[in-house]
Amino acid sequence: MKRIAVLVSGSGSNLQALIDAELQGQLGKGKIVGVLSNKANAYALTRAQQANIDTAIISHKNFPTRESFDQQMHQQLLDWDVDLVVLAGFMRILSSDFVSQWQGRMLNIHPSLLPHYKGMHTHQRVLNTGDRFHGCTVHFVTAELDAGQAIIQAVLEVRHSDTAESLATRIHPLEHQIYPQAVQWFCNEQLIWCENQAYFQNKPLQVQQIFCSSD
Ligand code: GRF
Repeated sequence: MKRIAVLVSGSGSNLQALIDAELQGQLGKGKIVGVLSNKANAYALTRAQQANIDTAIISHKNFPTRESFDQQMHQQLLDWDVDLVVLAGFMRILSSDFVSQWQGRMLNIHPSLLPHYKGMHTHQRVLNTGDRFHGCTVHFVTAELDAGQAIIQAVLEVRHSDTAESLATRIHPLEHQIYPQAVQWFCNEQLIWCENQAYFQNKPLQVQQIFCSSD
Protein backbone atom coordinates (compact mmCIF):
# COMPACT_ATOMS: atom_id res chain seq x y z
CA MET A 1 0.00 0.00 0.00
CA LYS A 2 1.15 3.57 -0.73
CA ARG A 3 0.03 6.10 1.83
CA ILE A 4 -0.96 9.42 0.26
CA ALA A 5 -1.33 12.87 1.81
CA VAL A 6 -3.06 15.61 -0.16
CA LEU A 7 -2.15 19.24 0.54
CA VAL A 8 -4.87 21.79 -0.21
CA SER A 9 -5.83 25.43 0.30
CA GLY A 10 -9.15 25.76 -1.52
CA SER A 11 -12.10 24.03 -3.07
CA GLY A 12 -10.43 20.67 -3.54
CA SER A 13 -12.06 19.47 -6.76
CA ASN A 14 -8.82 17.64 -7.58
CA LEU A 15 -8.90 16.09 -4.11
CA GLN A 16 -12.46 14.95 -4.86
CA ALA A 17 -11.32 13.36 -8.12
CA LEU A 18 -8.64 11.46 -6.19
CA ILE A 19 -11.12 10.36 -3.51
CA ASP A 20 -13.54 9.16 -6.20
CA ALA A 21 -10.75 7.37 -8.06
CA GLU A 22 -9.72 5.56 -4.88
CA LEU A 23 -13.31 4.51 -4.22
CA GLN A 24 -13.51 3.14 -7.76
CA GLY A 25 -10.26 1.22 -7.33
CA GLN A 26 -8.41 3.50 -9.73
CA LEU A 27 -5.54 4.53 -7.47
CA GLY A 28 -3.99 1.09 -7.59
CA LYS A 29 -2.25 0.51 -4.28
CA GLY A 30 -2.79 4.12 -3.24
CA LYS A 31 -4.78 5.12 -0.15
CA ILE A 32 -5.40 8.73 0.91
CA VAL A 33 -4.55 8.77 4.62
CA GLY A 34 -4.61 12.50 5.30
CA VAL A 35 -5.58 15.90 3.95
CA LEU A 36 -3.59 18.89 5.17
CA SER A 37 -4.75 22.47 4.66
CA ASN A 38 -3.12 25.77 5.54
CA LYS A 39 -6.61 27.32 5.54
CA ALA A 40 -9.21 26.37 8.15
CA ASN A 41 -12.10 27.30 5.83
CA ALA A 42 -10.96 25.34 2.77
CA TYR A 43 -13.91 23.40 1.33
CA ALA A 44 -11.45 20.59 0.61
CA LEU A 45 -11.52 19.80 4.35
CA THR A 46 -15.27 19.15 4.16
CA ARG A 47 -14.71 16.81 1.23
CA ALA A 48 -12.09 14.90 3.25
CA GLN A 49 -14.32 14.65 6.31
CA GLN A 50 -17.22 13.39 4.19
CA ALA A 51 -14.91 10.65 2.95
CA ASN A 52 -13.73 9.83 6.50
CA ILE A 53 -10.18 10.93 5.80
CA ASP A 54 -8.07 12.35 8.60
CA THR A 55 -7.50 16.12 8.31
CA ALA A 56 -4.97 18.59 9.69
CA ILE A 57 -5.04 22.38 9.62
CA ILE A 58 -1.67 24.06 9.89
CA SER A 59 -1.99 27.78 9.36
CA HIS A 60 1.10 29.45 7.95
CA LYS A 61 0.06 32.55 9.88
CA ASN A 62 1.00 30.87 13.16
CA PHE A 63 4.65 30.44 12.17
CA PRO A 64 7.37 33.10 12.10
CA THR A 65 9.13 31.70 9.03
CA ARG A 66 8.36 29.61 5.95
CA GLU A 67 10.86 27.03 7.23
CA SER A 68 9.15 26.59 10.61
CA PHE A 69 5.75 26.21 8.90
CA ASP A 70 7.19 23.64 6.51
CA GLN A 71 8.82 21.78 9.41
CA GLN A 72 5.42 21.43 11.08
CA MET A 73 3.91 20.09 7.85
CA HIS A 74 6.81 17.70 7.47
CA GLN A 75 6.17 16.36 10.98
CA GLN A 76 2.48 15.80 10.16
CA LEU A 77 3.43 13.89 7.01
CA LEU A 78 5.81 11.72 9.04
CA ASP A 79 3.05 11.12 11.61
CA TRP A 80 0.81 9.90 8.78
CA ASP A 81 3.73 7.76 7.52
CA VAL A 82 3.27 9.11 4.02
CA ASP A 83 4.79 7.64 0.84
CA LEU A 84 3.46 10.26 -1.59
CA VAL A 85 2.59 13.93 -1.16
CA VAL A 86 0.04 15.30 -3.63
CA LEU A 87 -0.30 19.08 -3.96
CA ALA A 88 -3.83 19.90 -5.09
CA GLY A 89 -4.35 23.64 -5.15
CA PHE A 90 -1.93 24.20 -2.26
CA MET A 91 -1.19 27.91 -2.41
CA ARG A 92 2.09 28.19 -0.51
CA ILE A 93 5.59 28.19 -1.92
CA LEU A 94 7.59 25.41 -0.28
CA SER A 95 11.08 25.85 1.16
CA SER A 96 13.92 24.05 -0.58
CA ASP A 97 14.59 21.96 2.55
CA PHE A 98 11.02 20.67 2.57
CA VAL A 99 11.08 19.95 -1.16
CA SER A 100 14.36 18.06 -0.97
CA GLN A 101 13.02 15.89 1.87
CA TRP A 102 10.14 14.81 -0.41
CA GLN A 103 12.03 14.83 -3.70
CA GLY A 104 10.68 12.15 -6.03
CA ARG A 105 7.71 11.61 -3.70
CA MET A 106 5.77 14.84 -4.28
CA LEU A 107 3.53 15.72 -7.23
CA ASN A 108 1.75 18.89 -8.32
CA ILE A 109 -0.80 19.81 -10.97
CA HIS A 110 -0.45 23.02 -12.90
CA PRO A 111 -2.92 24.56 -15.37
CA SER A 112 -0.61 24.94 -18.37
CA LEU A 113 1.50 22.85 -20.71
CA LEU A 114 4.74 23.08 -18.76
CA PRO A 115 7.44 24.25 -19.28
CA HIS A 116 5.26 27.02 -20.72
CA TYR A 117 3.46 29.42 -18.39
CA LYS A 118 4.88 28.63 -14.99
CA GLY A 119 3.29 30.66 -12.20
CA MET A 120 -0.08 32.40 -12.08
CA HIS A 121 -2.79 33.54 -14.53
CA THR A 122 -1.92 30.89 -17.10
CA HIS A 123 -5.19 31.04 -19.05
CA GLN A 124 -5.02 34.78 -19.68
CA ARG A 125 -1.35 34.55 -20.65
CA VAL A 126 -2.13 31.81 -23.19
CA LEU A 127 -4.84 34.05 -24.71
CA ASN A 128 -2.52 37.06 -24.74
CA THR A 129 0.09 35.09 -26.67
CA GLY A 130 -2.46 33.62 -29.07
CA ASP A 131 -1.41 30.01 -28.52
CA ARG A 132 -3.32 27.32 -30.35
CA PHE A 133 -2.91 24.67 -27.63
CA HIS A 134 -3.28 24.79 -23.86
CA GLY A 135 -3.79 22.27 -21.10
CA CYS A 136 -2.56 21.02 -17.75
CA THR A 137 0.41 19.10 -16.42
CA VAL A 138 1.12 16.76 -13.52
CA HIS A 139 4.77 17.01 -12.54
CA PHE A 140 7.28 16.09 -9.87
CA VAL A 141 7.98 18.95 -7.50
CA THR A 142 11.46 20.40 -7.32
CA ALA A 143 12.71 23.52 -5.54
CA GLU A 144 12.23 25.71 -8.63
CA LEU A 145 8.54 26.63 -9.01
CA ASP A 146 6.64 24.51 -11.59
CA ALA A 147 9.93 23.25 -13.04
CA GLY A 148 10.06 19.55 -12.01
CA GLN A 149 9.83 16.77 -14.55
CA ALA A 150 6.44 16.53 -16.30
CA ILE A 151 4.61 13.19 -16.05
CA ILE A 152 1.33 13.62 -17.94
CA GLN A 153 -0.38 16.44 -19.82
CA ALA A 154 -3.87 16.89 -21.19
CA VAL A 155 -3.89 19.09 -24.28
CA LEU A 156 -6.82 20.99 -25.77
CA GLU A 157 -7.23 23.35 -28.69
CA VAL A 158 -7.96 26.96 -27.79
CA ARG A 159 -11.15 28.31 -29.40
CA HIS A 160 -11.44 31.81 -30.81
CA SER A 161 -14.30 32.39 -28.39
CA ASP A 162 -12.35 31.26 -25.29
CA THR A 163 -11.89 33.54 -22.28
CA ALA A 164 -9.73 32.91 -19.23
CA GLU A 165 -12.90 31.69 -17.48
CA SER A 166 -13.94 29.31 -20.25
CA LEU A 167 -10.43 27.88 -20.43
CA ALA A 168 -10.46 27.28 -16.66
CA THR A 169 -13.86 25.56 -17.02
CA ARG A 170 -12.62 23.37 -19.87
CA ILE A 171 -9.32 22.49 -18.20
CA HIS A 172 -10.57 21.58 -14.72
CA PRO A 173 -12.19 18.28 -15.79
CA LEU A 174 -8.99 17.38 -17.62
CA GLU A 175 -7.06 17.87 -14.39
CA HIS A 176 -9.48 15.45 -12.75
CA GLN A 177 -8.56 12.82 -15.36
CA ILE A 178 -4.80 13.11 -15.38
CA TYR A 179 -4.10 13.56 -11.68
CA PRO A 180 -5.57 10.21 -10.57
CA GLN A 181 -3.79 8.58 -13.52
CA ALA A 182 -0.37 9.89 -12.45
CA VAL A 183 -1.03 8.93 -8.81
CA GLN A 184 -2.04 5.43 -9.89
CA TRP A 185 1.19 5.04 -11.90
CA PHE A 186 3.22 6.12 -8.87
CA CYS A 187 1.34 3.86 -6.47
CA ASN A 188 1.69 0.86 -8.76
CA GLU A 189 5.39 1.62 -9.19
CA GLN A 190 5.10 2.10 -12.93
CA LEU A 191 6.39 5.58 -12.21
CA ILE A 192 9.46 5.61 -10.00
CA TRP A 193 12.13 8.07 -8.97
CA CYS A 194 15.67 6.84 -8.64
CA GLU A 195 18.78 8.95 -8.16
CA ASN A 196 17.37 12.20 -9.49
CA GLN A 197 15.72 10.60 -12.51
CA ALA A 198 12.12 9.55 -13.08
CA TYR A 199 11.33 6.29 -14.87
CA PHE A 200 8.04 5.27 -16.45
CA GLN A 201 7.53 1.59 -17.21
CA ASN A 202 11.27 0.98 -16.80
CA LYS A 203 12.39 3.70 -19.21
CA PRO A 204 13.46 7.27 -18.49
CA LEU A 205 10.21 9.22 -18.20
CA GLN A 206 8.96 11.10 -21.24
CA VAL A 207 5.86 13.15 -20.67
CA GLN A 208 2.66 11.26 -21.57
CA GLN A 209 0.08 13.32 -23.45
CA ILE A 210 -3.67 13.02 -23.87
CA PHE A 211 -5.21 15.08 -26.69
CA CYS A 212 -8.76 16.18 -26.09
CA SER A 213 -11.00 16.87 -29.02
CA SER A 214 -12.82 20.19 -28.97
CA ASP A 215 -16.27 18.53 -29.42
C1 GRF B 1 -6.17 23.78 -10.06
O1 GRF B 1 -6.52 24.63 -11.11
C2 GRF B 1 -4.74 23.37 -10.18
O2 GRF B 1 -4.28 23.34 -11.48
C3 GRF B 1 -4.02 24.43 -9.40
O3 GRF B 1 -4.88 24.74 -8.34
C4 GRF B 1 -6.22 24.48 -8.73
C5 GRF B 1 -6.86 23.66 -7.66
O4 GRF B 1 -8.23 23.50 -7.87
N1 GRF B 1 -2.73 23.94 -8.96
P1 GRF B 1 -9.08 22.59 -6.88
O5 GRF B 1 -8.96 23.18 -5.47
O6 GRF B 1 -8.54 21.20 -6.94
O7 GRF B 1 -10.49 22.68 -7.38
